[in-house]
Amino acid sequence: MIWAIPLLVVLLVLKVARGHEKPAKKRFYDKKEYSPPKIQAVSSDFDWQSQEPLKSYPFKNAAYKLTMGIKSLDVQDWLLVENSYKKVTAVKSKIINNSHPAYPAEKDLRSNTLLHTDEAFPAIKEFYSVATSYMCDKYPMYFVREGDMIHNKINNIYVPSTCSNDVKDAPKYLEYLTQIIEEDFIILLKDPSKEDEKDGTEYFFKAGVFAFAAGFNPRDRFNAPLSFVHHPIPGYEEKLKLSMNRFFNRIVPGQFVTRSNFSVQTHDKYYVDDSNKGHNLPKDHVQVALDYDSLDFDNQVHYRSERQVLTKLPESGAVVFTIRTYLHPMSRIKSEGPEVCERLVGAIEGFPPDIVTYKRAGEWGPPLIKYLRS
Ligand SMILES: *[C@@H]1O[C@H](CO)[C@@H](O)[C@H](O)[C@H]1NC(C)=O
Ligand SMILES: *[C@@H]1O[C@H](CO)[C@@H](O)[C@H](O)[C@H]1NC(C)=O
Repeated sequence: MIWAIPLLVVLLVLKVARGHEKPAKKRFYDKKEYSPPKIQAVSSDFDWQSQEPLKSYPFKNAAYKLTMGIKSLDVQDWLLVENSYKKVTAVKSKIINNSHPAYPAEKDLRSNTLLHTDEAFPAIKEFYSVATSYMCDKYPMYFVREGDMIHNKINNIYVPSTCSNDVKDAPKYLEYLTQIIEEDFIILLKDPSKEDEKDGTEYFFKAGVFAFAAGFNPRDRFNAPLSFVHHPIPGYEEKLKLSMNRFFNRIVPGQFVTRSNFSVQTHDKYYVDDSNKGHNLPKDHVQVALDYDSLDFDNQVHYRSERQVLTKLPESGAVVFTIRTYLHPMSRIKSEGPEVCERLVGAIEGFPPDIVTYKRAGEWGPPLIKYLRS
């Protein structure tokens, strides 16, 4: 019992010291103090087919500024079921199964988009449990535990309710996740073996399904540090890198933050590794405005927005990004009315030259502005 006395003194001192502290923003977490957020069920008359997509229109009628642009998010608004569910999960399943007709058969999209390392397996397992429980709790009419399976009643399929312990099953469970949640997801972990390399103390992209990449091949960013994942974004190194890394280190389990971005593309593909972004073009490529009359704003020109949500998992300490992609024909944006249209025009006109190049706005910008104002 003697040992208990100094311990008690230390505890008391800590307690007193704490009492005098300002209730500072909590940065580090204690596993014992963590209690999982309680997820409310949506109302019992919730109907997925009547859920209009969130208006993910993160553009401002102002000069472009590269910022983290993160806002905290209620956990209740994390993973969503909207009227796109059936269509989007089907598109994704074809992409990761190499059976989507829009891509050449020899293009191995599965190995580009479904990614995992052995060291990420505990985090995959944890995310599997967190994400599937979330869907069962929030949408109990559509995701129902039956024995050791979960019945997805929207797509009428079954997936296991817990992840196996065999690391060789990783791809299978990543795939099951795509049959439950519509969002892509990436799992990031620290990699102590790479600390001596450039950006080696950052979080590394260690696993995930990134089926809806917009302008790069996810495999090229795989197993790379956060800064490399963001690599071609103009200004990232100078303006964002430090705060982004700091943020990743500080986020605690139970905390959810969100950020969104937008772009425009002249096709309706969800997975694109070779266009969309100007950095994939030859150096001497001059972007020439596309011809307004030859563009189809109902079927060809699309508005694209990514809604990212970031959190940390309590057991593995992995940072998880979920990425929800909205892809709408431009005519849908136009039908939102003049306020939204003018705001989008203002945002496009506010791009500096490097962003114009990066987003290929030199091509789609002029005809799109004409369209939004017509
Ligand atoms: C991919 O194809 C396999 C074999 O046909 C099937 O078992 C699996 O469910 C499919 N995955 C998805 C996501 O559709
Ligand atoms: C959104 O930002 C991510 C980087 O965080 C980038 O990879 C992606 O291409 C962007 N998407 C759009 C639609 O601009």
